[in-house]
Amino acid sequence: MIDQRLLPAEYKLVDFHDYLQVTQAIQQMVVRGAPAIGASGAFGLALAAQTSRAVDKNALLQELRAAAEVIKSARPTAVNLTWGLKRVMEVAEQERGDLESLRTAVLAEAQRIADEDVEINQRMARYGAALISDGDTIIHHCNTGSLAAVDWGTALGVIRMAHKLGKRVHVLVDETRPRLQGARLTAWELEQYQIPYEIITDNAAGYFLRSGGVQKVFFGGDRMAANGDVANKIGTYMLALAANDNQIPAYCVVPTSTIDLSLPHGDLIPIEERDPDEVLGLQFAGYPVAPENAKARNPAFDVTPHRLISGIVTENGVVEPPYESNLRAAVEMSSKK
Ligand code: MRU
Repeated sequence: MIDQRLLPAEYKLVDFHDYLQVTQAIQQMVVRGAPAIGASGAFGLALAAQTSRAVDKNALLQELRAAAEVIKSARPTAVNLTWGLKRVMEVAEQERGDLESLRTAVLAEAQRIADEDVEINQRMARYGAALISDGDTIIHHCNTGSLAAVDWGTALGVIRMAHKLGKRVHVLVDETRPRLQGARLTAWELEQYQIPYEIITDNAAGYFLRSGGVQKVFFGGDRMAANGDVANKIGTYMLALAANDNQIPAYCVVPTSTIDLSLPHGDLIPIEERDPDEVLGLQFAGYPVAPENAKARNPAFDVTPHRLISGIVTENGVVEPPYESNLRAAVEMSSKK
């Protein structure tokens, strides 16, 4: 994996040898972004299968079930993690061969998830790029590029595709407090794609949306409920509200693996609350920003109600309201493939 905590200062590849290390990497955000942690979790199970000393298939299956529970606990909001683990476990439970075939089947399914992710992202990018006009200025939140997926990306993948197709785009990159995925990671990716951008503080988004100089807002999602409410990086809700108030379309780009039809609405999505030190650790002029004993709250995600979303870009096309029925149809299209 690329250690995303170090970018853009350092590009460092790190290796993992067992599923506990992978769990820790997901928890500590060495790897982050919903599709990326989905594939990472799947490969975590592949490592669990490779490193296991189980002597028969049933014993290995038991170990895999236990490992899946541990990996799942790393981060609760992005449903892709549970989804990837579930996919691998379904293949494992159905494997009829011997111990070695089980190991091979688990690794093969993890690899399939990774390969499909790239293809799905590129399909979403083509659908989404049609929503972008030549000359658009776009506000983008968090990092949803190739770093957040296996490759290519979701919302940033759409912007990248529009640029590749020759449309002139300018990106206003929300810095995305507290972990600065926008300023650190999205800006780093945009440099490589040679897409013009400027970083803005998260609290400047409303100013720019009111200025008349922004045509669209794009963001990704970590878990979308059946009605289209979506949990995404903290700050997305305020961004979507301000876009809506200024009649600027706000699009959410999610693969169908991010859609959780078991949850009727977004208030049921578990929201991860991370260490307050992520908020308090910031320095200003070389000193900590907050008083020594300050406390902080650090929800990592918020829920944007579906009424604020102008369209949902999936690998099966752009889903429009009414979301309830149309999202279900988009998800079913993937499960039939
Ligand atoms: O906490 P992170 O950095 O894993 O959060 C990531 C996001 O919120 C992204 O917007 C989301 O995963 C969709 S991107 C592919």
